Amino acid sequence: MSTLARQHSWFQRSAARALWLAAAALSLPCAARAEALPTPPALQAQLAAQGLKPQTITVVEPHLSRKDHAVQRRYQAFPIEEVLVRVLGPDWNAQADRELEFKALDGFIARMPVSRFLKYRAFLAFGLADGRAFTVDNLAQNEKNVALGPYYLIWDNLAAPSLQVEGGTHWPYQVAEISLRAVKPEALLPAGMDSSRWVEQAALVQKYCLSCHQINGFGGAKMPLNLAVRAKLIDSRTWQSWLLQPQSVKPGTAMPALPDGLSLAERQRIASELHDYLKALPVAP
Ligand code: HEC
Repeated sequence: MSTLARQHSWFQRSAARALWLAAAALSLPCAARAEALPTPPALQAQLAAQGLKPQTITVVEPHLSRKDHAVQRRYQAFPIEEVLVRVLGPDWNAQADRELEFKALDGFIARMPVSRFLKYRAFLAFGLADGRAFTVDNLAQNEKNVALGPYYLIWDNLAAPSLQVEGGTHWPYQVAEISLRAVKPEALLPAGMDSSRWVEQAALVQKYCLSCHQINGFGGAKMPLNLAVRAKLIDSRTWQSWLLQPQSVKPGTAMPALPDGLSLAERQRIASELHDYLKALPVAP
């Protein structure tokens, strides 16, 4: 439905708001709604008008932390549900198996199930609490002073320490657009593949790889390499090195290793499961 898919800032004009309400009333369950986020000052003004102030949230910053060295940071942020209800509408969480997609300015795409937002507390940060530059060093990707704005999705991982082992996987920065969509298992589990055998691997590749890479056209655009093609050309030793110690294959590379919060055995297992899965996955013509 083109009116829904069309990008517009819900906050810019009240006419847009009326249009959105009309579209929401039709409530097509599978339509993807891609919404450009308003600028932080516009969002702040909107929320302030309803009595909502930004909060100061302290997190273990995954991009700055190493396995045995947790670095905390304080951000200025809004609870994500306050933003989602305004940008996507009040039924954004009606179907826990749909996915929220966060699209970043640099082509990075993070997709995560709505259920994750019902289980853990997330915030949309737009600045550091102390007012310093809104940037971070991304240790895993060898990048310094990376801009985080306009928005950075952060998680209350002090309240939920299990999130601390995930690294930066679900912490997209430079977020400019949010959408809600039906999960597309056919790209990751096409007809002819035994879905009960590969369902875990499909979820792993989605979680750890497709924010930057692709599978047959599905995934992020930061490094749009088709893993279903490339995996078949790489031997298992080199594959393990790329996933566990990319710096040993290509010093200075921006490819992040699997998070070192996971045990070595677990990382090795994930790497080999992903390799088997990607080798089995048919390459789309
Ligand atoms: C944050 C973005 C990002 C994520 C997430 C990511 N990669 Fe990469 N990957 C890259 C970049 C960038 C390169 C290019 C490295 C270079 O040439 O310096 C790369 C390179 C690779 C290569 C080497 C390709 C070649 O032959 O030159 C493989 C294999 C690979 N990635 C697999 C994966 C797998 C599997 C995952 C998930 C476990 C993953 N990547 C997650 C960014 C990412």
